[in-house]
Order: sequence, then C-alpha cells, then structure tokens
Amino acid sequence: MTIWTVTNLKPGTAKTTSAVWLAHALHEMGRKVLLVDADPGGARSKLAPEAFDGLGSTGRWNARAAFPFDLIDNASSSLHKVLPAVSAAYDVTVIDSPPIEDHQGIAVSALRVADTAVFPVAPTTAEVDRMAPVMAVVADIEPLRATELTTCVLLNRCVANAASTGDAIHALTGAGHRVLAARIPRLELYAQSHGAPVTAAGTAYADAAAEVLALRGAAAGEGRA
Ligand SMILES: Nc1ncnc2c1ncn2[C@@H]1O[C@H](COP(=O)(O)OP(=O)(O)OP(=O)(O)O)[C@@H](O)[C@H]1O
Ligand SMILES: [Mg+2]
Repeated sequence: MTIWTVTNLKPGTAKTTSAVWLAHALHEMGRKVLLVDADPGGARSKLAPEAFDGLGSTGRWNARAAFPFDLIDNASSSLHKVLPAVSAAYDVTVIDSPPIEDHQGIAVSALRVADTAVFPVAPTTAEVDRMAPVMAVVADIEPLRATELTTCVLLNRCVANAASTGDAIHALTGAGHRVLAARIPRLELYAQSHGAPVTAAGTAYADAAAEVLALRGAAAGEGRA
C-alpha cells in the first residue's frame, strides 16, 4: 500500500490533471486505486454557493466521465487521521491536493499521511522557484511524520524542443530535487481532458506512474528529491 499526494504551492499547476491521469495509469497497470478529491476549490465557496454543484474538480470530472476506480471526496484537514484505515484496502491511494497556499490545513494533512509527494512543475522560472517554499513546508511537517517523505518533481506542460525543459531540469537537480525521467508534454490531449474519459497507456503519465511506483520500491524508507 502506498499513498501519493499530488501537490504544489499555487493553483493551476496541473495537480488535478496529474492526479487523475496517474490514477488511470495505475488502474490500467492492474493496481487497485483510490483517488481522493481533497480540493474544495470553488465547491464550498461562500460566494454564490447556489452556483456550485458541491463537487471539487476531480468529482466534477468523474461526474462527466465515471472513473473506473473508487473516488472519495474528502477535502478536510483530517486526511492524516482518516486515510490510513481507508487506504489499507487499496494498492495505491492518490490524493488530488488543493494548492498549499490556499488550503494549507488540507494540503499539510495530505503531506502528513502520504509516503510520496509528486510535485507537478512547469519548466518556468516561476514554478521552479516555488519549489523552495514547497520544500520548506515539507521540512516543517517532517517532525510530525513517522518516516521521511519521498518526493519527486513531475515536469509537465513541457514544450517539445524548447530549451526551457533542460533549463528547468538543470535548476531543479542543482537544487537537490529528484526529477522524474518521464516528462508530460504540453498538449491539447491533457488540456481538454477534464471531464472526458482517460486512457493513460502509452502516454508519459503511464511512464511517470511506473517510475513513482519503482521509486517507492527501491527507496522504501529513504528520502527526498
Ligand atoms: N500537460 C498539459 N498540457 C496542456 N495543458 C495542461 C496540461 N496539464 C494541465 N493542463 C491545463 O492546465 C490547467 C490547470 O490544470 P489543473 O486544473 O490540473 O491544475 P490544478 O493544479 O489542479 O489547479 P487548481 O489548483 O486550481 O486545482 C488546466 O486548464 C489544464 O487543462
Ligand atoms: Mg485542481
């Protein structure tokens, strides 16, 4: 059993897209998958609540194109208390985290219960620079954890043949982060996938899922990116 949180500091960094595609990849590999929608997003907004359907963006995606694995809605800061028992029935639990800066209680709870954090990062200076505050949050919660969190950067929204991907890899590895070899390209396939059925086999998300699983297998108990 393994629990991944797909997380980052800011909104709009492809957390939901990555969590959903990784969950499909794991399911297609034959793993028993639980996806946790932990992002309240606008769903619990106090502004015009009647305009919302009560679902987070993962739940909304599932409502349009039902996922072939279990999904639970738990946008709460009790994930670290609730999930160990729930996740025991699954091979892999994937948490779609809200942005850390907007919902710190929930995102930190996810970082406490997960054994692995996957950080989707675009190869831009802004997103690369934000890994420092993300790792500061990880360091802050380390005393609350029984084991060290395994962390990895999943580069995504990469433009083919652009220098930016190499530059980002250089900067991230230079700063001590583990960067997955699988890289998610910037494609309409992903941009338009919210609410649509997903087949991950043959895509970079299948490679990324296999890589993160291997990371856990190889580096059980040891640490950070
Ligand atoms: N590989 C990709 N190529 C092109 N567009 C992408 C890719 N991945 C994600 N996107 C687009 O980027 C936007 C943000 O993605 P997503 O909703 O997954 O981010 P998020 O981090 O979950 O955001 P939030 O913090 O608001 O929940 C979406 O419009 C999505 O379709
Ligand atoms: Mg999201």
